[in-house]
Amino acid sequence: MANIVPVSFVGGTGGQWQVESITAITGDGLAPVEAVAIHDGHLAGVPAPAAWVLRGTNSHGRYVDRAQQTGLVAVQAPIGRRGSTCAALIPIRKSPAWWDLTQDERTAIFEGESRHISSSMKYLPAIARRLYQARDLAEPFDFLTWFDYAPEDAAAFDELVAMLRSTREWQFVDREVDVRLTRAS
Ligand code: HEM
Repeated sequence: MANIVPVSFVGGTGGQWQVESITAITGDGLAPVEAVAIHDGHLAGVPAPAAWVLRGTNSHGRYVDRAQQTGLVAVQAPIGRRGSTCAALIPIRKSPAWWDLTQDERTAIFEGESRHISSSMKYLPAIARRLYQARDLAEPFDFLTWFDYAPEDAAAFDELVAMLRSTREWQFVDREVDVRLTRAS
């Protein structure tokens, strides 16, 4: 498996990423902040004067099959490209009904019905993505999703997010916050 990378997103006054907007999509939002800093490792608390810290860890795939994995590796771009001055941090929690399902039932909804992977592939490599798992850390969200892209791909990102939010998978999302960010270069 890939190296374990624990990460903390710190919402406060400092950091590389300036906050453009914080929108509560479903459930409680997050306190407004000026900037988000990304720290390696899990911070124990909320360092003053930050308002919140979200912790997650990369992990193994739960849903990708071999063909999808090969397809992803062939086209996906790394986070942090020059010119990717726009980003989105979208923390997501799914409902107890989702977690009551078995893995095969979740897979049937995630890909069989909602086509999460196959419908999203066309947005690569313009959109670079990272998925951090947080549920097993007893965090307020189950997943921290992070994306970066060039300003000219912002409309495509909005289209992608709207498409995913219309799927059956998203009927199981009971908390989602959409944080949009920019950086200088
Ligand atoms: C850029 C195009 C995208 C691609 C190619 C993509 C692909 C994937 C893949 C392959 C997985 C499965 C990981 C695994 O096997 O465990 C996944 C999971 C996930 N993705 Fe996406 N995704 C995209 C965009 C998005 C967006 C825009 C969001 C949020 C708005 C999102 C939210 C999630 C979440 C929450 C999971 C975890 C689902 C779960 O484990 O229940 N994805 N995605």
